[in-house]
Amino acid sequence: MNKITVLGLGAMGSRMATNLSAAGHDVTVWNRTQSVAAALAAEKGLSVAETPRSAVKGADVVVSMLSDDDAVLAVWHDPESGALAAVEKGAVIIESSTLTPATIQTLAGAALDSNVRFVEAPVVGSRPQADAGALFYLLSGEAEAVDAARPIIDVNAGNSKYVGEIGNAATMKLAINGLFAAQVAAFAEIAGFIEQSSLDTDEAMETLAALPITSPGLKRVLGLIQERNYSPNFPVHLVEKDLGYLTETAQDLKARVPIAEATKAIYQQGAAGDQRDLDIAGIAQLYQLSHVDE
Ligand SMILES: NC(=O)c1ccc[n+]([C@@H]2O[C@H](COP(=O)([O-])OP(=O)(O)OC[C@H]3O[C@@H](n4cnc5c(N)ncnc54)[C@H](OP(=O)(O)O)[C@@H]3O)[C@@H](O)[C@H]2O)c1
Repeated sequence: MNKITVLGLGAMGSRMATNLSAAGHDVTVWNRTQSVAAALAAEKGLSVAETPRSAVKGADVVVSMLSDDDAVLAVWHDPESGALAAVEKGAVIIESSTLTPATIQTLAGAALDSNVRFVEAPVVGSRPQADAGALFYLLSGEAEAVDAARPIIDVNAGNSKYVGEIGNAATMKLAINGLFAAQVAAFAEIAGFIEQSSLDTDEAMETLAALPITSPGLKRVLGLIQERNYSPNFPVHLVEKDLGYLTETAQDLKARVPIAEATKAIYQQGAAGDQRDLDIAGIAQLYQLSHVDE
């Protein structure tokens, strides 16, 4: 049994904390909105802390699952309440938020300066995979730190891939999400095109789903678009955030990413409008007859 702190109890962090507790670990939680932490702690028998700094005291392992670069920098580095100042020497940080490689490098450098082991561990998969402890982890960091973190990671992992130096896991995660988001945007647009044509929409969508150009992941998205089922797993505003991080990182790398730029503009429109909190498949609303402006 390990003493584990989970920082951030959103859709993903709450599920991870629940699984870690069910696996027999002693779990302390912290969340910016304290009522969320109190409710989860009461339901699952976890300990609650009032600040990130008090939450990590005495922990062997700290898991962080926060929305973005700004959240992570605030939670780790706030001069009054930031967690890093209180992480025990020799403890392991598992940073699972989807961030820019630049921010993860800053965090890892600060952890190293504090003699704390640091594992970069963003995840592929969404709420159902988190519920099932079947996320795909991308891992970067010192091999010794990754080995130390692995038994804890395995509680929420179905699979993992070590991708080398710090920053690589973020780069890989942004590459995966960029590719997926571009494909979903393309299918959403084509679904709207079909709907406004004289084709039988259901038949045409079934034809698309049966073709080898449609991956299993996209087949699922096509089904959601047909059903107009946009209850969130991976919400549009987080997709937009990741595309912003991808294009920002591409600029640093001097890599040309015109499709990612175009895709970002589409999700920006969704995130600024009614689609913000819908699932990624909900970007299709931009093109559906009931939502398209005359
Ligand atoms: N959802 C997915 O399918 C999915 C899949 C893979 C990876 N991810 C990544 O995993 C991370 C978490 O995703 P999620 O779906 O769990 O997000 P979420 O449900 O929106 O939760 C975000 C968490 O971050 C906290 N937070 C936001 N801004 C903060 C700030 N300034 N200071 C402190 N805490 C702050 C929120 O606290 P409050 O409760 O106070 O708002 C909440 O605990 C993101 O980086 C996301 O890109 C998500």
